Amino acid sequence: MKTYINYPLKHLHTFGTDVYAPNLLVIENDDDLVKLLNDGFLQKDYYILGGGSNVLFLRVPEYVIVIRIKGIGVVDENEHFVWVRAKAGEIWDNFVGYCVEQNWGGLENLSLIPGTVGASPIQNIGAYGVEVKDTIQIVDAINLITFEKRKFTNNDCCFSYRNSYFKSSDEKWLITEVLFKLTKKNHRFVLNYGNLINELTGHTISLSTVRQRIIDIRKKKLPEPQLLGNAGSFFKNPIVDASVFNDLLPCYPDMPFFRTEDNKIKIPAAWLIEKAGLKGYRVGDTGTYPMQPLVIVNYGKATPQDIYHFSEIIVNKVFDKFKVKLEREVNVVR
Ligand code: EPU
Repeated sequence: MKTYINYPLKHLHTFGTDVYAPNLLVIENDDDLVKLLNDGFLQKDYYILGGGSNVLFLRVPEYVIVIRIKGIGVVDENEHFVWVRAKAGEIWDNFVGYCVEQNWGGLENLSLIPGTVGASPIQNIGAYGVEVKDTIQIVDAINLITFEKRKFTNNDCCFSYRNSYFKSSDEKWLITEVLFKLTKKNHRFVLNYGNLINELTGHTISLSTVRQRIIDIRKKKLPEPQLLGNAGSFFKNPIVDASVFNDLLPCYPDMPFFRTEDNKIKIPAAWLIEKAGLKGYRVGDTGTYPMQPLVIVNYGKATPQDIYHFSEIIVNKVFDKFKVKLEREVNVVR
């Protein structure tokens, strides 16, 4: 296990703030993992970091643990499907790219999402009408208190919009591996989200063309973390009761919305933020991204506290105008 003292986290999390880990532990293989469990690190103050694409460090715990265990393998296949496992430290988009190259379908809409495979089930990453829960079969995890190893079925993971058992339960689990079921033929492309189908006009529909268009759309709409620090969507799209929605609709007849399976209404947070006059709003080195105000960006020297205070301004202003409370999607470490 590699260890470092007072290690800068600037390049290990996509907000790119100037924070330091008193101790950084890098877990690269199963032996490192055994050492991590046996040597008492988990009795200390720690945080487990995947790709760092969804975290804001208001405080840095004494030990920051980076999971870099890699490996992809086919577990089973038949004429129609392939079951592929990927270790937690695989970079998510490399894994998606690999699956598309093999002509395995199911993950192409999730192209270019930052982060690692191990982080993907935690908040049930989703984009362009697809969520990772749609392909996950088994999540292998270790309980960080009892060290119990468990295989979670898709059902056990209690997936919902940007949420899972791993995010909502008080128990602490370390995800080590994820098993996906992907298609080998007769792929069911999901193209009905936004303008995706229009973007594909003139192209043959294949896994690689869909992946490429998604990459193009994301690059156009979302800031690249290497150029402008951010953690993707900072807020979730709020899901409100029909009564709240019915009160708002007469005042805002152009409000976009989506009905959820449980008869609630999801309203795009980007729309609420824009209508509150906060699209491209900036305070010092923190602001909402002018192309997609759901994303909060670090223009350079913003501290985690600056970013957090800025997000509070957004929450309060949106609440004052719409009486809808935005919830943070990003993991805030306090
Ligand atoms: N909108 C505006 N103004 C804007 C942008 C969007 O009013 O400037 C409204 C429009 O009505 C638009 C709607 O918001 O139709 C939805 O916008 P968009 O398609 O960009 O998606 P989103 O709901 O804002 C979600 C995910 C993104 C994901 C996109 C595409 C959440 C919290 N975010 O954003 O995920 O890429 O859909 O599927 O659900 C992430 O989680 O980090 C992330 C980037």
